[in-house]
Amino acid sequence: MNHLTVNLHLLMISFYQPTTTRYKIICEAKAFPSDQYAIQSQIKLHGINPENAMIEVQPGNGSEIITTANIIEAIEEYGDSVALVLFSGVNYYTGQKFDIEKITAAAHKAGAFAGFDLAHAAGNIELNLHNWKVDFACWCNYKYLNSGPGTIAGAFVHEKHIHNKDLKRLEGWWGNDMSNRFKMEKTFTPSPSAEAWQMSTAPMMLLAAHKASLEIFDEAGFTDLVTKSKALSDYLFFALNHINQSQAFTILTPANPEERGCQVSLSVHNNAKKIFDALLPHGIFADWREPNVIRIAPVPLYNTFEEIFLFAQTFQQLLNTSNV
Ligand SMILES: Cc1ncc(COP(=O)(O)O)c(C=O)c1O
Repeated sequence: MNHLTVNLHLLMISFYQPTTTRYKIICEAKAFPSDQYAIQSQIKLHGINPENAMIEVQPGNGSEIITTANIIEAIEEYGDSVALVLFSGVNYYTGQKFDIEKITAAAHKAGAFAGFDLAHAAGNIELNLHNWKVDFACWCNYKYLNSGPGTIAGAFVHEKHIHNKDLKRLEGWWGNDMSNRFKMEKTFTPSPSAEAWQMSTAPMMLLAAHKASLEIFDEAGFTDLVTKSKALSDYLFFALNHINQSQAFTILTPANPEERGCQVSLSVHNNAKKIFDALLPHGIFADWREPNVIRIAPVPLYNTFEEIFLFAQTFQQLLNTSNV
């Protein structure tokens, strides 16, 4: 339903209901800006100052990586003042994958809800939201799931919340149960699923594009795609390490495949933008993040090992000639 930031807001309406003592939101430092704005504006909506309520867990030891221990420590430190722990599944900047299950368990232990923005995780890594007991999640489908920019987004609510009458929710007719939706009654009967959070008529064209994409994923098989994804990005790490004898760049993404998806972020020390701009004419679609980060994401559906070889070769040439 809707788009990602809209879904995040709708779910936070339900899962961020601060009290005078429990009002903090713990999130990652350098979360995607839209998430930061959503968090800050939700806090303000309740008349609270975000500076007192938004706790960003910082990476440690001069690295860009926020360890699970850092996160659990922060949750334990703020304990019963924490209302919500909100993380991404995979950080958009570093490509770091967070341990959703452990973060959720720590949030629950502190008596807080756990929610996740899966923009960079959906279609990229294996997710098991139900078994991990995640309270809610939302994601867009235009990154790894290929449904086209601005297409329909997704939302997950754990089934344990479905019959919770105390949970507040913004409601509209499309969230009303199908069995009596068209009876046009005054009383809202929630659909017995995350669909209760839907408000408006489903946008058919966007859903059609998304369905077409999901059918391709089903045909390929997600487990096989993840296996190939790991092999592709392992090879990318190998090739990058091979060409980086002169330390021209730093790989921000953890090398361990358990701590990342297929995205690999490179902090390029000199002439980063010039090198990035030179990739496209070589047919390489990378992604740029200020001030000097190039993101590469070999995706298993359509990228090949040969393309990684060609990327590494081109990148090396550009690094060697970029000072000229
Ligand atoms: C992590 C993350 N959160 C939120 C958004 C915002 O998505 P939307 O424009 O669909 O609301 C994005 C978009 O790139 C994102 O990467």
